[in-house]
Amino acid sequence: MRALRLTFLLALAIALPGCGDDAKPPATHRVASNATPSDPALAQIYTNSCQLCHANPAANAPLTGDRKAWEPRIQQGADTLLDHAINGYNGMPPMGLCVECSEEQFLQLIGFMADQPLPQ
Ligand code: HEC
Repeated sequence: MRALRLTFLLALAIALPGCGDDAKPPATHRVASNATPSDPALAQIYTNSCQLCHANPAANAPLTGDRKAWEPRIQQGADTLLDHAINGYNGMPPMGLCVECSEEQFLQLIGFMADQPLPQ
């Protein structure tokens, strides 16, 4: 699985420079972000839980600010995202390790990491 994905990324990296003068790195480039939510309370929750995995490429979580990685997840809708955040989803632990988080806070954190508004 991993080898396949690497091969795909490699092929993409080789193919992309040929198509246009856009010097930006490919959209699939996985970069850990140091960004935190501007709200201090939310930022504290984020750094104590979500960030441990969602800013760590090794965790295989959709990374904060990686809009491409979040897009298909966001399309599931806010209800599904909230359900997966609260009940867990594969490598995503229930409550994202934040037992005191409210639904409102989860939605804000997801919107922050996805860098895009959540559909209702
Ligand atoms: C221990 C690591 C870890 C922590 C901590 C963590 N996550 Fe995740 N999260 C993951 C992984 C891994 C995935 C990808 C799961 C998959 O798609 O198989 C994920 C996926 C998600 C998804 C997408 C689920 C979907 O339906 O695609 C949401 C939303 C999410 N996390 C929210 C959060 C929030 C909010 C926090 C902090 C309160 C958080 N996570 C903390 C590991 C973590």
